[in-house]
Amino acid sequence: MIHTAQRAQGFTESVIREMTRVANRSGAVNLAQGFPDFPMPAPMKDAAAAAIQGDINQYAITWGAPALRVAIAEKYRRWYDLAVDPENEITVTCGATEAMAATFMALVNPGDEVIILEPFYENYGPDATLAGATPVFVPLVAPDWHLDIERLAAAITPRTRALVLNTPHNPTGKVFTRAEVAAIAELADRHDFLVFTDEIYEHLVYAGHHHAIAAFPGMRDRTVTISGLSKTFSCTGWRLGYAIAPAPLTAAIRKVHDFLTVGAPAPLQAAAAAGMAFDADYYNHLQLAYKQRRGVMATALDRAGFTFTVPDGAYYILADFSLIDSRRDDHEFALWLAEAVGVATVPGSSFYGVREGGQRNGRDGGRSTVRFAFCKTFETLGRAAERLEAMSR
Ligand SMILES: Cc1ncc(COP(=O)(O)O)c(C=O)c1O
Repeated sequence: MIHTAQRAQGFTESVIREMTRVANRSGAVNLAQGFPDFPMPAPMKDAAAAAIQGDINQYAITWGAPALRVAIAEKYRRWYDLAVDPENEITVTCGATEAMAATFMALVNPGDEVIILEPFYENYGPDATLAGATPVFVPLVAPDWHLDIERLAAAITPRTRALVLNTPHNPTGKVFTRAEVAAIAELADRHDFLVFTDEIYEHLVYAGHHHAIAAFPGMRDRTVTISGLSKTFSCTGWRLGYAIAPAPLTAAIRKVHDFLTVGAPAPLQAAAAAGMAFDADYYNHLQLAYKQRRGVMATALDRAGFTFTVPDGAYYILADFSLIDSRRDDHEFALWLAEAVGVATVPGSSFYGVREGGQRNGRDGGRSTVRFAFCKTFETLGRAAERLEAMSR
């Protein structure tokens, strides 16, 4: 009898990645996993090829190539007016995914509680489990997904060690308002907990503004700012992210990172520095194209009979299908949609926590929703739109 460790039994395989396999198997248009199906910027590809040809193929410095850390610090100065010391406050990681996992392992003790706003990007639950922490789920309020500050305050206990703040938000597309971010900052300060952010969609905002909580009064010392290149530069396969935190926290994150991965790929770090230097034109263009994609997706879903709140940021629409099908649950509906209609999505309940007894939380635990990713070419979106619209005929 082969035994696996208990910590690996505390969560299931990623449903998002599983739905990509379903899409491949059934020939469905893959709107499940959030990866672009269009090329990343050519200058970065050229820089990566040049780095490989130039023999930058050995281990980079564990916490990140100096040029990339300097470029990241410069970005935070330019965009958020934040002074970041590239020597002591930045850790370059294998994606925001590793940054978050390493942060949990470095800064959270077994038995600590970590507040996760629900629905949530599915990694945070396993991150908490791997660190031995207890996730405490606080629901965002549908349909506009606003934060109920009193409910959040009521979830704080003496064991609360941290809160995860993902803005712009996956899966809802919510962009937290300045007032909401300020309220979280005020609670973190009053109750002395840390905030781990996930700002991977910081440059995909269509309404409102992105607010980096580290820039709020008193928050610099208690925030780990996590982001990465996957979404901003359409290079999810490069696996480049980073965590920015005060020096004592960074020292712990770097130790965990070192023994997990040694470091992120050296030639890609060299190329990433080139991307970080792009000017405002790049970001304006990126945002404009995504806004158009959002329009195509929203129109198609509306015509097909889904109900949803139009996202202000990120590249997902979490859509309720109960007017189309009140019989199937989200898993059954997502499978049917992939196999019979030809569009792969992610079942909504994957973004909700599992309670004792296997119950999921939320309006109905996401059981009547599926998530559509619109980070695709207009051609791909057009094919998906045709199939979705044919459903209602
Ligand atoms: C909220 C969120 N955080 C992190 C990631 C993964 O980031 P990375 O590719 O940098 O690991 C994703 C990918 O979909 C995401 O949606």
